[in-house]
Amino acid sequence: MSLSIPHGGKLVNRYNPELEIQSINKSIELDEISLSDLELIGTGAYSPIEGFLTEEDYRSVVQNIRLKDGHVWSIPITLPVNEEKANELQKGDQVKLNFSGVTYGTIEISDIFRPDKKEEAKLVYRTDDTEHPGVKKMMERGDIYVGGKITLTKRISRDQFAEYYLDPSETRISFEEKGWKKVVGFQTRNPVHRAHEYIQKSALEIVDGLFLNPLVGATKSDDISADVRMKSYKVLLKNYYPQDRVFLAVFPAAMRYAGPREAIFHAMVRKNYGCTHFIVGRDHAGVGNYYGTYDAQRIFDQFTADELGITLLFFEHSFYCEKCGNMASTKTCPHGKEDHVILSGTKVREMLRNGEVPPATFSRKEVVEVLIEGMKETHVHN
Ligand code: ADX
Repeated sequence: MSLSIPHGGKLVNRYNPELEIQSINKSIELDEISLSDLELIGTGAYSPIEGFLTEEDYRSVVQNIRLKDGHVWSIPITLPVNEEKANELQKGDQVKLNFSGVTYGTIEISDIFRPDKKEEAKLVYRTDDTEHPGVKKMMERGDIYVGGKITLTKRISRDQFAEYYLDPSETRISFEEKGWKKVVGFQTRNPVHRAHEYIQKSALEIVDGLFLNPLVGATKSDDISADVRMKSYKVLLKNYYPQDRVFLAVFPAAMRYAGPREAIFHAMVRKNYGCTHFIVGRDHAGVGNYYGTYDAQRIFDQFTADELGITLLFFEHSFYCEKCGNMASTKTCPHGKEDHVILSGTKVREMLRNGEVPPATFSRKEVVEVLIEGMKETHVHN
């Protein structure tokens, strides 16, 4: 069997529903981001990380894109609390991790420290502009970080598309059962449009299977909601993809919008899910104009193939070209911009909200129908 080896050598498993928690009296209230991080650490999606980062690991990740033991890691996975809460806590404490009053895990505190958030912003997000949604979120969260190993004691129950929440150990089994040796992971926080489909299928030409792994954790409010996206993925896969070569499961992490840094994080996590390959296209995990179009590809140059342990597939900006009469990219099409169908995310959302149909050269009609319907429902609910 030749699926990828998990980052750090083996899948971390920090799930123990039997753990005795009754006698623990201190607790930390998690936010949506730290709850999702707790679960993803517990299931091994974040291997080799076993807890929220300690000060040494945090500094090392922020400054060197590595854990202190040398493993490549690009996004600080932190547990922020406010000063008042920090004053109640001590190193060595065993503390419950709660969300809306329910305990989902515990942390054994090995560190309580004040991060340099400005440095975190500049080095991780490449900007300290608080208009950047990732920086804004980071600045709003607590000013003291708590580090230490966690135990996940309770799984989060889901009412929507529950069957698409799979742990790395489960996706690995599925890939094996399908007999896939080479699996390409695809991260997205958007509906799959023709450009996405084009790069996915280009990749699929050289591997056995596509792992479509949309992020469904916290995103910024103007991104299309996860439930509408899930409907759109299902209808797209049903109509346009070979059923035995694609596998859909969700990635329940929060979006950081950290561009290049997040591309590395996305790749390492997909390696843990069993992917041997990972797609990085244009402005991966970017937002606004904070990152250059291919910065998220270039950042991988500083690591060796062995350190990464997953093969990156880089794609140029793709689009439909009216002159070529097919999908193409800046690498394969000789024509000018005037022949290319390129619509910004903002423009598309605006069209959909107005019930306007983007051209079939931009998005499949079945996908557009789902999105327009979804937009209507969102408006009714608001
Ligand atoms: S992301 O924040 O999850 O990266 P998105 O869902 O838009 O955003 O992108 C998913 C993947 O497709 C990323 O690897 C991105 O670089 C790539 N991508 C998106 N649009 C294009 C495009 N037009 N051409 C090439 N790659 C693209």
